[in-house]
This record gives sequence, structure tokens and C-alpha cells, in this order.
Amino acid sequence: MKVAVFSAKPYDKTYLSRVLSARSDPESSSFSSNSFSKVKIELVFHDFSLSTDTVALAAGASAVCVFVNDTLSENVLKALHSSGVRAILLRCAGYNNVDLPTAERLGLFVANVPSYSPEAVAEFAVALIQTLNRNTHRAYNRAREGNFNLDGLLGRTLHGKTVGIVGTGKIGVALARIMKGFGCKVLGYDLYPSDAFRECGEYVGSLENELLPVCDFVSLHCPLTESTRYMINDETLGCMKKGAMLVNTSRGGLINTKAVIKALKYHQIGGLALDVYEGEGALFYHDHSGDIIQDDDLMRLMTFPNVIVCGHQAFFTEEALTEIADCTFRNLDDFCRGVPCKNSLVIVREGHLFMKRDALPVRI
Ligand SMILES: NC(=O)c1ccc[n+]([C@@H]2O[C@H](COP(=O)([O-])OP(=O)(O)OC[C@H]3O[C@@H](n4cnc5c(N)ncnc54)[C@H](O)[C@@H]3O)[C@@H](O)[C@H]2O)c1
Repeated sequence: MKVAVFSAKPYDKTYLSRVLSARSDPESSSFSSNSFSKVKIELVFHDFSLSTDTVALAAGASAVCVFVNDTLSENVLKALHSSGVRAILLRCAGYNNVDLPTAERLGLFVANVPSYSPEAVAEFAVALIQTLNRNTHRAYNRAREGNFNLDGLLGRTLHGKTVGIVGTGKIGVALARIMKGFGCKVLGYDLYPSDAFRECGEYVGSLENELLPVCDFVSLHCPLTESTRYMINDETLGCMKKGAMLVNTSRGGLINTKAVIKALKYHQIGGLALDVYEGEGALFYHDHSGDIIQDDDLMRLMTFPNVIVCGHQAFFTEEALTEIADCTFRNLDDFCRGVPCKNSLVIVREGHLFMKRDALPVRI
């Protein structure tokens, strides 16, 4: 079986190939190779993303393996289906880039990797919080120039501060545990409160009235859905405690960029750290250092000394890449064997797969 892997970076090639060969090796004890179907898998790597322009390159493949910025719109899915593709393997958790109702109508199998080291993302959120708060990004540049002046580098001790976590799923809970360890007061907001979060934080019932006005740091960890798109906008930014810092390692579309630029400009918020950006699809994961970047909002953001932008790297650890690859092949294995796949996002007509009907995020 051929699997066309889109948006394949060198590290994707390394980890997918390594895990595939370990799973196929009966001597290997690292992976559940005993239960792996005997279908021979051939990976075909494409370093560009999947879109209407590139979908023809999936010809001859039975499955495609895609990432966060690949486009799986109705047109792309129809073209994949016509060329013989029957399975979509997302090597990420979010699936806001997939038209799931169309996939379901076409009878395509779609599965994601719902959890791969939530700690990896939570720890990166902490790195952003502390970089922004203690100005280590500025100190690094200064020290390299021989400037050891501390003016402008003043931070705040995290101990005793209030941290607001919006979305208390796997990553939100992992972050809550860490922030509790720092001695912070941890507040959470979620449509579906969990006991796991209650062990390290306290829930509030309203984002606007109870969380944003009291938190010194706010970190976003909910999925991008119709109801969360632009949840950070002029109005909610106005509810934030003046000078508070905002961190987003979730999805760029949660924040209205123009509104956040205004809030930074008028000192309503004290800093912003982004690992994700609403217009990231056109830029992230590629080297644009020699280009004139046309995204004026992103360029404006970069002019603020109290803004940090990273290129969607919170997941990027050895452990997470190994788990992503292994889970991707477990999903493919379920598809090949026609058994229920716990990470399936659609109901397939043959009925051997199921969707977690009660699961969030809601599809868009
Ligand atoms: N930057 C990265 O590298 C990276 C890596 C993995 C995941 N992510 C993002 O992080 C997000 C969270 O991941 P997770 O594994 O914790 O997911 P999760 O499904 O475990 O948790 C998401 C939580 O958000 C809550 N939620 C949904 N709608 C909400 C709303 N309107 N208001 C408040 N809460 C709401 C859900 O109830 C759930 O508890 C993912 O959706 C993904 O977009 C980013």
C-alpha cells in the first residue's frame, strides 16, 4: 500500500520511516508489531503541502498522511477519492483543516493523533510565558552585542500570580500542573469541566467576567471551532487585566490579530506570545528569510518588543514525533484490518469504524 506523505520535512521522513521499520520488525520490542497488519507499506514523501494544485501527486496512493496546514477541502477530498485514496491520516491533533462531512459522505477514513505528549505543548507554553515575562529574548540579543544593561528587562515573579487556562483538556491540565508547581493560582474556563483540572486549579463560569479580568497570564488551549474563532477580540481583550500577558499555542484563529495589535499598541495587554498565527498557512514551516513577507499584520506584530512569534513548534520534541508516527501507523493498521479505530473522526459506510459523537471539538 502506497501512502503519500504531504508537507514532509526531514524529521517527518526520519520518524515515520524509523517507526515503520521498527513496527515491521518482529525483533523490535518498542512498538506493537505483533498486531500490525501484514500489508506492506510504502511511504512516498512530498515536501510541499496538499492542496488543489498538488492533489494529483496522490495518484497511485491508497492513503495520504497530512499535517496542520494541508488543505482537505471538498474539492481536494473529491479529487483524492477519484484517484483511489481511501484513508486520510492526520499526523496532528487538530482537524479544522478537513471537511469532515464531505469525507464522511465519500466514505473516506479519517483519523487523527489526538494526544502526543500534551506535556510537550504545555512545557513550550511555559517557555513562552517565561521568555515574555523575563525578557530572555531581548537579553539574548543584547548579551551577544556586549550589552549587559538591565533596563527594559524587568519581569515579574510568577509565584503568587494568577494564570488563566482557556480550554482545560489534555494540554490545559498539563499546563495547570506545571503552573501550580510554580506557586501560581490557576483558574480554568472550559465548556466541559474535568476533575483532572480541579486537582490543580479552580474553574470559573465566565471567560469575560471571571477569568480575563483577574489573570496576569492567559494561555489558550481550546480547539478552533465556529464558536471559538476570534474568541480573543476587541471586547474580550478589553476585559483582560491591564498589562496581562497572552499566550497562544493552540490555533491562530482563536485570536483576532488586528484586535490584538490594537491592544498591544494601547498597552491594554503587556505582552503576546504566539506559537500559532491565523495566517500561518502561507508562511510557517518554510524559510522565508530571503523573501519580502506580504503579511502586514504579522510584520506589525514583530515590531513590538513584547511580542514573541514562533512557527508552530510546541509539539516538536523527539518523544512527540515518535508517538505521532506510531499512532499514525496504528490508525492505518486499524483501517487495513477493518477494525474500529478509536481515533476515527468519521463514520464509514461499511460500519466498521466509529466516530466519537460526544467528542469536542465540534467540526467546522
Ligand atoms: N502548537 C502545537 O504544536 C499544538 C500541538 C497540539 C495541539 N495543539 C492545539 O491545542 C489544542 C488543545 O489540545 P488538547 O490536546 O488539550 O485538546 P483537548 O481536546 O484535550 O482539549 C481541548 C479542550 O477545549 C475545550 N473547549 C472546546 N471549546 C471550548 C470553548 N468554546 N471554550 C472553552 N473551552 C473549550 C474542550 O472542552 C476541551 O476540554 C488543540 O485543539 C490543537 O489545536 C497545538
